[in-house]
Amino acid sequence: MKITARQEALLKRTFIDYQQLTEFLRDPLVVERAQGVYYWDTEGKRYFDAIGGIFVATLGHGHPRLLDAMRKQMEKMTFAPPLHGIADVTLDFIERLGTVTPGNLKYVKGFSGGSEATESAMKFVRQYFKQMGHPGKYKFISRYYGYHGGTAGAMAASGTGSRKTKFEPQMPGFVKVFPPTHYRDQFASWEECNRFAAQAVEDVIIAEDPETVAGFMVEPVGNTGGIITPTAEYFRMLREICDRHNVVLIFDEIITGFGKTGHMFAAQTYGVTPDIICCGKGLSSGMMPIGAMIAREDMAEAFWGAASDDVQFAHGHTFAGNPLSAAVGIAVINEIIENRLDEKAVRMGERLKARLEGLRKYGVVREVRGKGVLLGVELVKDTRTLAPFPELGMALKKATLRNGLILRVDPSWFAVSPALVASDDELDEMCQLIEKSFAAALEQASVTAANPTVAV
Ligand SMILES: Cc1ncc(COP(=O)(O)O)c(C=O)c1O
Repeated sequence: MKITARQEALLKRTFIDYQQLTEFLRDPLVVERAQGVYYWDTEGKRYFDAIGGIFVATLGHGHPRLLDAMRKQMEKMTFAPPLHGIADVTLDFIERLGTVTPGNLKYVKGFSGGSEATESAMKFVRQYFKQMGHPGKYKFISRYYGYHGGTAGAMAASGTGSRKTKFEPQMPGFVKVFPPTHYRDQFASWEECNRFAAQAVEDVIIAEDPETVAGFMVEPVGNTGGIITPTAEYFRMLREICDRHNVVLIFDEIITGFGKTGHMFAAQTYGVTPDIICCGKGLSSGMMPIGAMIAREDMAEAFWGAASDDVQFAHGHTFAGNPLSAAVGIAVINEIIENRLDEKAVRMGERLKARLEGLRKYGVVREVRGKGVLLGVELVKDTRTLAPFPELGMALKKATLRNGLILRVDPSWFAVSPALVASDDELDEMCQLIEKSFAAALEQASVTAANPTVAV
């Protein structure tokens, strides 16, 4: 899109997440309005939002039920005094969220975003073990390619190389293992590969000394590694391994939560209950900043103490459990449950997956994977040699914007996750835009790969 001189000057006074500014300014995007599955830029051009902003707008943009819930709460109270008490609507939120979580994950602490949730979960687990007579348990194991947030602790748990190395040294006490995709070409079957990757987690816990390991944090479907989708057995094995070594299993469901994978949480899709779930994004549908840490009720009891001692969770954030966010969270959950949007995600996902599989005819798709409406397509230069084709991902990002489509595109894969409210016609429109952009990008990328000096 074309931007004004004023917009350009102002863009130079901020930064766009994980984007190089000069590159961004070659093809900028300044949005002004959103409704349902669409955004409009300041020139009036419409974009299909195939990724809910960034896995956020679960119910689309501007959902009337959510606006109504916000309006009602706004009239009453928009901020509660965090050091003195809690809003009644935040208690309602705790109750409602607790009705849709697996197992006895009923302890809920509301936050303003995903990084606050993962960061808090790690502090919670460290303090939990100190209070449970295991003060030496402090390390967290997580996976290469994983992303758990942009704050210091969450980043230390993340395994996204270039997003981290600029800020090294990272916090100590974090250990990484590889997700199953890393080993897949070494095994005859995906199942076998998953077994190996899960067993590697136990090997690392033992090598580190289980008395030093506090938790294992994992995204049930890993976005930044290219929609890494392990088997259910992988998670069952992780559950058993964590139980054997008294290690807290933390699912980072900041992307996978709230219906996308076919259940409220991916934990239910995989049939494995972790000890802690961190969530955010989809719980807001983009209305208010929100996040939450949901833990086993008995873990929380370790923080009650007696009135005379100093046992408390030594943690807080000013906007945590904000009343407006709580009102939105309740309304999002109600809308998903009442309209069975989690079940709809499975049907939508089947339709969408079939369309994405259709891209195989271009000869550059290695795999289409994911759960429900959280799907990813892995790109290669040639499906026999499996050589990487970064030019394709780079060209695709530009082609999608040109064609009025917002996707999550990485050089070697792209992800799709439309709103659960999208109609069949809207899904078809989105798929047409994806294919149109894909074909254009492939043409461009083939030219660029043959002549690297040509700019895309
Ligand atoms: C899996 C995962 N965890 C944590 C986060 C951090 O959430 P936030 O950006 O809301 O702090 C993200 C954000 O993209 C995420 O994708």
